[in-house]
Amino acid sequence: MRVFEANISLQVCVFLKEFLNNISSFEIANEKIFGKYGLISFFENRDDFRELKNRVSMVAISTVAEPDRAEYGDFQTNQELTNRVAKYLVKENISPDIIIEPTCGKGNFIIAALSNFKTIKKVVGIEIYKPYVWETKFNILNFLLANPVNNKLEIAIKHCNIFDFDFKNISKQFPNEKILIIGNPPWVTNAKLGRLNSSNLPEKSNFKNQSGLDAMTGKGNFDIAEYITLMLLDAFHTHDGYLALLIKNSVIKNIVFDQKEKKYKIGKIEKYCIDSKKEFNVSVEASLLCCRLNTNPSVECNEYDMYSLEKKTSFGWLNAKFVSNLADYIEKQEIDGVSPFEWRQGIKHDCSSVMELERVNEHFINKLSEKVELEEGLIYGLLKSSDLKDRVIKNSRKQVIVTQTKVGQDTSFIQDLYPKTYNYLKSNISHFQARKSNIYKGKPLFSIFGIGDYSFKPYKVAISGLYKTCNFALILPQNNKPLMLDDTCYFIGFDKIEYAVYATILLNSETTKAFLKSITFSDAKRVFTKDILMRLDLLRVANLISRTEIDEQIIFLNEKYSLKINLSQWDNFINEMTPKKEKQLIIFKP
Ligand SMILES: C[S@@+](CC[C@H](N)C(=O)[O-])C[C@H]1O[C@@H](n2cnc3c(N)ncnc32)[C@H](O)[C@@H]1O
Repeated sequence: MRVFEANISLQVCVFLKEFLNNISSFEIANEKIFGKYGLISFFENRDDFRELKNRVSMVAISTVAEPDRAEYGDFQTNQELTNRVAKYLVKENISPDIIIEPTCGKGNFIIAALSNFKTIKKVVGIEIYKPYVWETKFNILNFLLANPVNNKLEIAIKHCNIFDFDFKNISKQFPNEKILIIGNPPWVTNAKLGRLNSSNLPEKSNFKNQSGLDAMTGKGNFDIAEYITLMLLDAFHTHDGYLALLIKNSVIKNIVFDQKEKKYKIGKIEKYCIDSKKEFNVSVEASLLCCRLNTNPSVECNEYDMYSLEKKTSFGWLNAKFVSNLADYIEKQEIDGVSPFEWRQGIKHDCSSVMELERVNEHFINKLSEKVELEEGLIYGLLKSSDLKDRVIKNSRKQVIVTQTKVGQDTSFIQDLYPKTYNYLKSNISHFQARKSNIYKGKPLFSIFGIGDYSFKPYKVAISGLYKTCNFALILPQNNKPLMLDDTCYFIGFDKIEYAVYATILLNSETTKAFLKSITFSDAKRVFTKDILMRLDLLRVANLISRTEIDEQIIFLNEKYSLKINLSQWDNFINEMTPKKEKQLIIFKP
């Protein structure tokens, strides 16, 4: 049954019908409900009181569909899981005086807390969606009718926006009470809110203070839950208590990562991985983040399985390094340094319908299925993440129009040198103008990013940033033209094929793979990033690997991919990777 668009049990309906029957004002009703059940301001106003009284006297079964609540990151936690979490916390001897559910939804965490913690004196729940505020209140009444409590309880379910709520005030008002922050903040990113034109945001904020390209291209994309968790830590990290929030793994990683600088007084940081498909029917990696408040700041997190409580791994900071598996990392940490070659991201154009083409006989077909005739000059083969599965790649399925040789280059030359290409681009100008990202604002026509001398190196070694598997592919030129990568890929470029082959061998060695595994997070949106790859000191890898292993790999690549590589350039390659300072020391050695 539904009242105020909220589900209400028959028990609560019957109770309210009788309870409100002889009460004529909402103030008296509020007083009586508070006196008996501790629920503060059950009715916010006279109208709510009248309407509810009216509705419970003639409740009908309602099948109204729930509205689309995407902008509120609405994934209600089921009772089995909220109970599991509460029971686990009880086992850990968590005995709170105050429960804070920052975005309480239908109230399942509050009910689990009421049924498992015997020490609770006060509950504060906040929720933006009025029907859920009602449903939480109804659920609490339902629970308390069936499970009367002897101790004096005070329960406040606030209908408000969490970003307007003053949590610090609770900490000030109850300095000696132990609090438990428990819940499941909204699962939505600011980027998605932008797409939905939603204002469910703290403020127009770039709250991590990212600047320039990072903020514009997605590194500035953050989860609302991350903002909420930080807001709660700001208010309560110096207050005795505990925090247990279901959040995305990426948010937990960010919080532990930021601990190095922020040094919130949180310790015993733990992550309990849940099966999101089973619990929420979504494919998002999420866990229960647990930590003790008001204790020595910790910079690492132990990871467990929520169901078996078996320990999986530990991640976090080891001295100045952030790693995904502390135990494995310790074994491979000697190759954590600085890459001798600069890793680059591939071309970004945000205009694939026009810029990406397939070659068919003498012409091209674009993504709009239009037949296009273009000069060959600006056409290059293009590889995407899904093309990087093999060890050696010589051909591409797709082509791309490379309109610049470096970022910001004037593109007026296209009209003179490649008139067909210019006319094609010009006739599709609306697609370029529709590009949303700020990076294109005020730039020459048809601008692209991720382009420079390095893009035109004939030999490259590339990896997909998106895939969990760690395969470095050797990229060879196609028809004497270098192949390009798209912006989901990272690569290093070489003029000599030998160097590219040696690098491919070192990068695919077990040593490199084990190291990368110990510093990457397989549930990240981009597992391999420029920052990660730049940490790989290829010179140290070269020193750890035996010549025999390299010989064997060269034979394998020569045979399988018809190459003609030998080790004649090896010493030059090592010399190329050796930092200048070390080279001078070698020269001056007596
Ligand atoms: C992931 S659901 C979880 C609900 C509840 N904590 C649970 O575990 O079942 C997130 C909740 O946050 C609420 N919400 C979203 N934005 C909010 C805001 N700005 N202020 C308060 N609540 C909000 C949604 O309406 C939704 O009920």
